[in-house]
Amino acid sequence: MAIERLVEPMVADDKEEERIEISLRPTTFKEYIGQTHLKNNLKLAIEAVKKRKDGSTLDHILLYGPPGLGKTTMAGVIAHELGASLKVTSGPAIERAGDLASILTNLKDGDILFIDEIHRLRRAVEEVLYSAMEDYKLDIVIGKGPAARSVRLDLPHFTVIGATTRTGSLAGPLRDRFGMIHRLEYYKEPEIEQIINRTAGILKTEIKPEATKLLATRSRLTPRIANRIFKRVRDYADVNGDGIIDAKIAESALDLMEIDYLGLDPADRNMLKLMYENYGDRPVGLTTIAALTGDESTTIEDFYEPYLLQIGLLARTPKGRIVTEKGRKHLQNSKNKL
Ligand code: ADE
Repeated sequence: MAIERLVEPMVADDKEEERIEISLRPTTFKEYIGQTHLKNNLKLAIEAVKKRKDGSTLDHILLYGPPGLGKTTMAGVIAHELGASLKVTSGPAIERAGDLASILTNLKDGDILFIDEIHRLRRAVEEVLYSAMEDYKLDIVIGKGPAARSVRLDLPHFTVIGATTRTGSLAGPLRDRFGMIHRLEYYKEPEIEQIINRTAGILKTEIKPEATKLLATRSRLTPRIANRIFKRVRDYADVNGDGIIDAKIAESALDLMEIDYLGLDPADRNMLKLMYENYGDRPVGLTTIAALTGDESTTIEDFYEPYLLQIGLLARTPKGRIVTEKGRKHLQNSKNKL
């Protein structure tokens, strides 16, 4: 089993953790901090649909970007602002075309269908989705052999919100069915501070401004990680202090978690170190990196590298990834200073 990484921006598999995570999710645009450009575009589209009152539905929306930035949360906000009901599924969960057919025939006009990890849909399922998205028709084959016949069913007018960490691996025809395609960006540090303060308020924990700042610098510009770190630091403050999170408590808790001043954990540093020790400043292919660390290439691509690229510790070249000068310096520094 893989080691649990605190900075892993994946969805929590612990039920309690998941429950808190859901309770922290904003439900309106007003509550949702950051992603201003995306929010402005969505607000306009939603307002237009509401104003028309002719039964028209919101265009299909594709949200992409690194994990943990709030794609699922945004789908919830869109549904709430539209007054629509939200059905949630994911690419790997829809195993057969029949599974999708049953989801689609159970929808109602105006419903939103959120498909997480849409790039992992099977080809046969994807093809059913095309015509459903395009003209709200479902083509199904009834029977087998010579007696088989194809029927077209009418579907309710629904909206798909697809989420993916990579648009590159989405089939062209599927991409083309989305009227809006938006990338979620890494958050700015002051936005992460606001999110941490909001979380502290909801979880009724006092946090000092210097501590908020400190946690924000270590949260990889990612709300899900900020919230996760916050909860661990809150535990630390409860056990080792009076429950109030000040800079000293925050610093000690982060040291205990071995999260360094850029938000890297031992697994990130290990990857950079292995790359640098074995290849210096030469490019390394993704599969080689995966072999060095013992992870899957997709884990490296989806979870480790986006943030390391974002902050310039890694660079991508046509021949592979390289540890940058900044990355090399960070390795040296983080030996002495967490
Ligand atoms: N919690 C997690 N992400 C958030 C966001 N973008 N705004 C407010 N609270 C959040």
